[in-house]
Amino acid sequence: MRQYIVAGNWKMNKSLEDGLKLASEVINIANDEVKSNVNIVLCPPFTHLTSVKKLIGDSKNIFLGAQNVSNKKSGAYTGEISVEMLKSVGVDYVIIGHSERREYFNESNEMLAEKTNLVLEAGMVPIFCMGETLAQREQGIHIDFVKSQITDSLFHLVDTEFRKVVLAYEPIWAIGTGVTASSEQAQEMHLMIRNHIASKYGQATADAITIQYGGSCKASNAVELFDCPDIDGGLIGGAALVAREFVEVVKAAK
Ligand code: 13P
Repeated sequence: MRQYIVAGNWKMNKSLEDGLKLASEVINIANDEVKSNVNIVLCPPFTHLTSVKKLIGDSKNIFLGAQNVSNKKSGAYTGEISVEMLKSVGVDYVIIGHSERREYFNESNEMLAEKTNLVLEAGMVPIFCMGETLAQREQGIHIDFVKSQITDSLFHLVDTEFRKVVLAYEPIWAIGTGVTASSEQAQEMHLMIRNHIASKYGQATADAITIQYGGSCKASNAVELFDCPDIDGGLIGGAALVAREFVEVVKAAK
């Protein structure tokens, strides 16, 4: 059985005080109400990681995630954060290649391959993001584009390493727009992604990989999305900034 994972990507939101309030609300409600084995990942800004880790404590199934990491190991890279630093504050998951980083910070497939390698070497779990623009979908090249993102950044991995990666399909046109992919559109892409993995690593590996959906996913549409056979949870932006809303999304993943 694949692991369901719902991750909250706070992006560049929340002061430390507000972030700790949000995290403690999520943790309290989730500890009381979430009965399934879904893994919950909180991805606050770097500055809040240590404090959120303390709040998580030994809560069952709640984990700490970072939103980014450097592709360099250490050294003279002012402003960067290394895998070793993330590991040392108890980070479990690291988001890699979010479309906002690809677009605004020019992160290439090659750089994302380097980040993935470092995160795996450090014993953390990469949440590797991919997704097409609206123009690419309208041109009918969206499936090939997403496949190429996976091929170029991940297919150098050996099977045992690839199996540790979580994938997140986030169509760019659905991120922060209020327009979600329909469950048919999302399921179609998730199945294509799984078939693409199967063509390289075999069906058993493809069946073992968690593929999250992200893009305007919220309590009101999560049940329908997560009911799809190839959607294994979500990567949640806006709806992760309100504790009750986020936990309702988590509860939709069973
Ligand atoms: P929204 O849920 O706000 O659309 O953001 C999705 C996302 O980018 C999560 O990484």
